[in-house]
Amino acid sequence: MPKSATTTPPQQKNTAKAPAPAPSGSEGSLEVKDSRTSKGYSIPIADNAIRATELKKVKSSDPEDLGLVSYDPAFLNTASCRSAITYIDGDKGILRYRGYPIEQLAESASFLEVAWLLRHGELPNQKEYDQFVHDITFHTYVHENMRKFLEGFRYDAHPMAMLNSSIAALASFYPSARNIFDETERNISIIRLLAKTPTIAAFSYRHVKGLPFVYPDNRLSYVENFLSMIARMTESKYEANPIFTRALEILFILHADHEQNCSTNAVRAVGSSHVDPFSAVSAGVAALFGPLHGGANEQVLRMIKEIGTVKNVPGFIENVKSGEGGKLMGFGHRVYKSYDPRAKIVKKLADEVFDVVGVDKDLETALELERIALSDEYFISRKLYPNVDFYTGLIYRSMAFPTDFFTVLFAIGRMPGWLAQWEEMLLDKEQKIARPRQIYTGLGERPYKSRLKNPRPD
Ligand code: ACO
Repeated sequence: MPKSATTTPPQQKNTAKAPAPAPSGSEGSLEVKDSRTSKGYSIPIADNAIRATELKKVKSSDPEDLGLVSYDPAFLNTASCRSAITYIDGDKGILRYRGYPIEQLAESASFLEVAWLLRHGELPNQKEYDQFVHDITFHTYVHENMRKFLEGFRYDAHPMAMLNSSIAALASFYPSARNIFDETERNISIIRLLAKTPTIAAFSYRHVKGLPFVYPDNRLSYVENFLSMIARMTESKYEANPIFTRALEILFILHADHEQNCSTNAVRAVGSSHVDPFSAVSAGVAALFGPLHGGANEQVLRMIKEIGTVKNVPGFIENVKSGEGGKLMGFGHRVYKSYDPRAKIVKKLADEVFDVVGVDKDLETALELERIALSDEYFISRKLYPNVDFYTGLIYRSMAFPTDFFTVLFAIGRMPGWLAQWEEMLLDKEQKIARPRQIYTGLGERPYKSRLKNPRPD
């Protein structure tokens, strides 16, 4: 029987090694001339990037000028870190974890194998994997006070709000997790987050449904145990539908990491203050909650409900194009401009699940929406293709998950990525507390003159 996680933290790999794909563009320099001063500057290029701090040297003739800053709202063209975890080529529709194509991992790997890979950079051997699975399995229980904490939420609380605050609350149960530069502490915190997130997620689900909480069952796999905590009623051992188990395993793998997306950036930014990992990761859950990020799968289903039937689809598309109908949820991606490779895998998976559960009215509407959008000039010219969220919502729904639970499923899948990225950030000597600059657009100095009768009553 493998030992407890607290005794033997696995060897930390050097995460700073070069990413598998060679950086494009050779070394060189950017020769620029400032027309204000006629001065020329040579800005070194490495890894197809220039360092924004080099721009500080570019100053006007004003002696108080602090130098140029780069202005990049929403980080459209700014690399915030060097990372060896995930590689994306948005134009070619490529996604790889530590060099392994997502298609191969989705086809053959287990979610916990991928979780190990993301953190350590290599696939686990049998001994490492067995120990890891054992450690995760034996940390799935949460403190009974966490259960009471969850019971304090209203019956209609959104499960993402419950997950977010519960993960942040875990920091209060494990104060030693603040020792983030102690490898043993980091290891046990990572195990705890991977192990307890499904438990908290399932407890949130049962709370909203008014059902008794189901405690983890150590005889089951990670995904089966999660489904058992969600759906078990009077059975002594829950037997999950193997198609659903496989579908969730694959969906978790597809969501496990996606380089510097909004929630990962939130985890890194909050973690850069050297707060504990529970607090840092809860920031990621908060970011994922938003409808432009993980909340999109929920919005896809709401949109389909709103459309109603297949015959309303052309009118709905016209409304989207005219700007009156908002965006077509589940379409478009900041990075993928040809197709989202995850969407391809999920579409195939969706067909397998629908073969079991059947096609209903909503699914027919979704498929018609996809068909029309993919042949419409508006979407083609803007390179708007279905993203992973377009299909995941449909699969989750056919598995009878409530719509507002979809993003929670995304969060369980993304947990290994957040943790791997958090640790990589911490161990990266170049990283400091994240603190962007701004371009001040407010007023200049002016004297205080209150408009209140008595601004500071005694
Ligand atoms: N429906 C209709 N038009 C769209 C859509 C859409 N889903 N997405 C983008 N566009 C249009 C924009 O209006 C814009 O048109 P314009 O050039 O005429 O002004 C053009 O396409 C470019 O769009 P941007 O907003 O600049 O693209 P950006 O990269 O900033 O946004 C995003 C990406 C947020 C994903 C966007 O496509 C969107 O809101 N999609 C719907 C929400 C969604 O599905 N999110 C999930 C993303 S995947 C994930 O988080 C796992």
